[in-house]
Amino acid sequence: MKQRPLKSPLRYPGGKSRVAKYLREYAPAKYNDYREIFAGGAAMFFQLPRARKSWINDLHPGLYALYKTLRDDFDAFAKECRKLDGDRRKIFNDLIGRRKLMEATGDDHLLERAVQYYYLNRTVWGGRVVFDPERKSRLYFSNPEGWNNIEKKLEHMRLISEKLAGVNITCLDFKHCLKGATEETFIYADPPYIRESDCHPTDKLYDKSFTFDCHSRLAKALDATPAKVMISYDVCQEVRERYSDPKWHFEELQWKYCGRRAVSKEHKSANRKEKKIEGGELLVFNYPPPLERKPVRIMRYNEELKKRVKKAHAEMMELHRGIPGRGDRWVTDPQLRSEFIQHVTECEWSESEILGCLLSMRKASKL
Ligand SMILES: C[S@@+](CC[C@H](N)C(=O)[O-])C[C@H]1O[C@@H](n2cnc3c(N)ncnc32)[C@H](O)[C@@H]1O
Repeated sequence: MKQRPLKSPLRYPGGKSRVAKYLREYAPAKYNDYREIFAGGAAMFFQLPRARKSWINDLHPGLYALYKTLRDDFDAFAKECRKLDGDRRKIFNDLIGRRKLMEATGDDHLLERAVQYYYLNRTVWGGRVVFDPERKSRLYFSNPEGWNNIEKKLEHMRLISEKLAGVNITCLDFKHCLKGATEETFIYADPPYIRESDCHPTDKLYDKSFTFDCHSRLAKALDATPAKVMISYDVCQEVRERYSDPKWHFEELQWKYCGRRAVSKEHKSANRKEKKIEGGELLVFNYPPPLERKPVRIMRYNEELKKRVKKAHAEMMELHRGIPGRGDRWVTDPQLRSEFIQHVTECEWSESEILGCLLSMRKASKL
């Protein structure tokens, strides 16, 4: 069966949805056993062609329930999702009120947990579904439109379910997923970033803390495996120090993360303002990186892009000066719109994202 790349069905904090198509260029040319040991939204798994054997793992029990249910019982999942029709805030409150379900692990109540996780992931702030009882109050209902077009989402979910057929799905500490790996195994590791370990507990993105010790454990385990390994990390000296054996190669990529905030404990206690983080990403691998790969330049909504869009807008207005009504129609007229979008050529946004940005700028400047 021909496999086409799929987009992760989840909104996932720190997820690689936008960049997976670039990351896949760095995958080894050959392997027959793929393991994604910190799967989250599993953007890489869904992007890559299926290997003979695949294994996705994450410590979050909600993800486990979702992937397993999609793999084994898509129709029941779709049926339950369709029932969640009505007042979205009320549904959200009902779901977060079901504490026992949230705290369940293993194979108990898989279907209910899968639906609960999926609904919360679509509608909660930043896709951040924290089930940890101590941080449950961090679940904010901020994205009701995330449950729009449910039939379309289910169509996508059906493809996701097909891709999951035969995949090993687990909810374990990463160390268990390195067992039995050989030179034919490709391990993709996207652990929580090192800077996350230093965050104030309320700012942490994931349920389970990944401490500095966990990063050391990971480095030690990956150093010892015969598998081909690729790791996505934050750009910092500490990573280079942890992977200091000459077999490790590094490549710094240039995309920017915006809107992601991280605050150290000292900053928090000193009441310092949270800062937006922009920066690259460090890829670490223990095999020679493929020679041919696409250059990576990904932009998200940020100041630089906003400036570029504004400039392109000004140029566009200049271009159409003197043609009555033309400048006004640029947002809705498909021909003008595509001309405009060509101005923002370097930008990797989809058309709808560019339009969203333009519309909000238009509103703000009352154009
Ligand atoms: C950066 S996210 C992965 C994002 C993912 N690559 C994507 O595209 O969405 C890191 C993940 O590691 C998981 N995690 C944290 N500690 C773990 C551990 N000890 N073992 C396995 N998974 C863990 C978290 O639940 C989180 O989903």
